[in-house]
Amino acid sequence: MSPPSYAILGTGSYAPARIMTNEDLSKVVDTSDEWIFSRTGIKERHIAADDELTSDMATAAAEKALADAKVTPDQIDICIVATLTPDLPMPSTACIVQAKLGLRHDVACFDQHAACSGFIYALDTAWALLQSGRYRHALVIGAEKISTVLDWSDRTTCVLFGDAAGAVVLGPSPEGSTAEIIGAKLYSEGGNTELLCIPGGGAAYPVPGPGDPPKFMQMKGREIFKFAVREMEDAAQDILEQHQIHPDEVNCVIPHQANLRIIDSLAKFLKLPEDRFFVNLERYGNTSAASIPLAIDEARRSGRLPNGSISLFVAFGAGLTYGSALVRW
Ligand code: ACO
Repeated sequence: MSPPSYAILGTGSYAPARIMTNEDLSKVVDTSDEWIFSRTGIKERHIAADDELTSDMATAAAEKALADAKVTPDQIDICIVATLTPDLPMPSTACIVQAKLGLRHDVACFDQHAACSGFIYALDTAWALLQSGRYRHALVIGAEKISTVLDWSDRTTCVLFGDAAGAVVLGPSPEGSTAEIIGAKLYSEGGNTELLCIPGGGAAYPVPGPGDPPKFMQMKGREIFKFAVREMEDAAQDILEQHQIHPDEVNCVIPHQANLRIIDSLAKFLKLPEDRFFVNLERYGNTSAASIPLAIDEARRSGRLPNGSISLFVAFGAGLTYGSALVRW
C-alpha cells in the first residue's frame, strides 16, 4: 500500500481591526500616499492593538482553519508557528498557541524563523514530518506583530509592513480529494545579514545601549529589491522544472506580498498575465510570514482556487531565505 498523500484540508486568516492608511502614515513620517502606492502598491495595513499578541492572531487564524478543515484541536499532532515577532524570546509562540487552542500535550510545537519565507519553510517542514508516517495532522501558521519591530520614525521601512496571521491544516488527503502538495523547495543565501536585519535584542546586543544597533528592522531596500526579483524567479522556475509543469499550467500564483513591482517582474519572467497572480498587498502591506497563508485563505474564499487548479507559492525574506511550493487544489 502506498503512503497517503497530504493535502491542505482547511485555511484561515485574521487581521487586527485597526487599519492604518497611507494618509495616516503621512502624519507620522515624511511620506505620501502617492509615494507609497506608486513604489509598492500598498494603500493600507492592519496594526494590532497593544494587548493583541502574535499568539492571539495565530490562534484566531488557526481556529478558522480548523473549523474549515473540520479537524478538531485534539487531532493535531504538529503545530508550527512561522514568525519573526514571537510573543517572547522564550518559550516558542507555538507552545503559547498550543495552550490557547487546547492541543494535546504529545504534540510537536515549535517556531520557524525564516522571516518572510517562514510560511513556506514551515509548510515544507510539516509536510516532511507528515510524510515520515509518524504524524497525521499539522497546523502550519504564519503570524506577525511586525509593528513592534518597526522604527516608526524610519520612512524607508515603516510604510511597508502590517500585522496579520494565516493558517492551514495539513492532513491525509481524503479519498478523491484535491489540495495536495505537489512539491516544495527551500533556499538560503546567508551572509547577507546587513541587507535586512533586526540588529539589537539578540545575543550580540541583548539590551542595546547608547551606540549599539537598535531592536528595529533595518533594510537596504534597493538591494533587497534586486535579490527579491532574482530569488522569486529562481524559486519559481526551479520548482516548475522539477515537477515538469509549464508556467502556463499554473492557474494562480500566490507570491509573497511585499511589493507590486516585484510581483510584476515575476509575472513578466513567467510570461503570465497579471490576473494569474493573487495580490492583496494593497490592503495589508507586507505581513512577513503571514503574507502567503493570508493570501491563500483569501484566494480560496474568493473562488480563485477551484478544484484541479494548480497554485504556485513563492516567497523571499531576510537571511536571505527564499522558497516555493506547488499545490494542486
Ligand atoms: N516616502 C517618501 N520618500 C521616501 C520613502 C517614503 N516612505 N522612503 C524612501 N524615500 C525616498 C528615499 O529617501 C529616496 O530619496 P532620495 O532619492 O532623495 O535619496 C527616494 O525615496 C528613492 O528611494 P529608493 O530606496 O531608491 O526607492 P525605491 O524605488 O527602491 O523603493 C522600496 C523603495 C519600496 C523599499 C523598494 O526598494 C522595495 O520594495 N525593496 C524591497 C523591500 C522588501 O520587499 N523588503 C521586505 C523583505 S521581506 C522580510 O523578510 C522582512
